Amino acid sequence: MQTKNNVETGEAVRQAVEDAVQAPSVHNTQPWRFGVRGARLTLRADPDRRLGVADPAGREMLISCGAALYNLRLSLRAQGFEPVVRTLPDPDRPHLLADVHAEPGTERPDEDVEREYAQIRLRHSHRGGFQDDPVSAGVLAALRHAAEREGARLVQAVDPNVRGALAALTEAAEHVQRRTPAYAAEIARWAPAPTTARRDGVQHAAYPSRPPRTEPNFAARDFARGQGWGVEPDASGDAGTSRTGLVVLLVTGDDTPAAWLDAGQALQRVLLRAAEQGLAAAYHTQALQVPELREFVRARFCGDAHPQMLLRLGVPEGAALATVRRPVDEVLTEEP
Ligand SMILES: Cc1cc2nc3c(=O)[nH]c(=O)nc-3n(C[C@H](O)[C@H](O)[C@H](O)COP(=O)(O)O)c2cc1C
Repeated sequence: MQTKNNVETGEAVRQAVEDAVQAPSVHNTQPWRFGVRGARLTLRADPDRRLGVADPAGREMLISCGAALYNLRLSLRAQGFEPVVRTLPDPDRPHLLADVHAEPGTERPDEDVEREYAQIRLRHSHRGGFQDDPVSAGVLAALRHAAEREGARLVQAVDPNVRGALAALTEAAEHVQRRTPAYAAEIARWAPAPTTARRDGVQHAAYPSRPPRTEPNFAARDFARGQGWGVEPDASGDAGTSRTGLVVLLVTGDDTPAAWLDAGQALQRVLLRAAEQGLAAAYHTQALQVPELREFVRARFCGDAHPQMLLRLGVPEGAALATVRRPVDEVLTEEP
């Protein structure tokens, strides 16, 4: 055990919030708020940033916050603290997602923690095809283990029929969402025009103007809405060699707010482990946002479990795309 003075603790806690906000969030809504008081932190969901149409229960909002919570824990550990976490500590305050106490930890974090921590700023969502490199059985086992450590499971769709069915369901959901005005308006709200000064949402530098097709093809979100926005493919772009990558479902035993928070922490742990191996994830949650299709995915492909995320994983083609975050002071409140 080591001792830390108040200044060191204050700096570490602030750094942990800086790291937490690097987490992925649905449509980059960044639906979180943090409170800090000495060595104590709170994480709250910000319901104004929930997707009222696509995510009425706040499931994906809590997955996003869970991913931020994982970064927060990892950051504290990397800085020599031991995070003691109570999730959903007050049933009367459902948006209070976690109380975290940064207790003094070991002098030097172990190498695994440092390696994983280094990926927080290197991880990016991918929105295209993957290279032909296979993901080894050992790496896949490590990713499965990462999910299980956080109370979730990673289920790989191996059977070509299952991969094809999940791609077709994604296509169907994307079609429904493009044709339904309320869904389309919500996407428009979170995919601002290139002239924007906003620090949230999925912006034109974050997606390709023409994502390469893969076999099976998983439909991309319609962030550009026919405006021609997005990053132009470079010469090395779609040469007809793009691969779909591994198709995986992240599933949990329950479908409760606690399970959604677990799913988010598991997601981020998997993503960071994957990034260590040079792998990136492309997300396709369209079918999980349409209740009838989510139920179909659950009943057909998840056994007794509940699907929380649908991802493709692989070595990304092309350069990493740029994303934005709000400044920490917008989401951090120093509590008296
Ligand atoms: C719960 C959740 C659902 C997501 N669903 C999609 C999706 O369907 N399509 C997509 O392109 N990205 C999806 N994303 C990725 C976010 O858009 C991305 O995390 C955000 O824009 C920030 O970018 P970054 O991950 O590169 O930091 C999802 C992320 C989360 C956490």
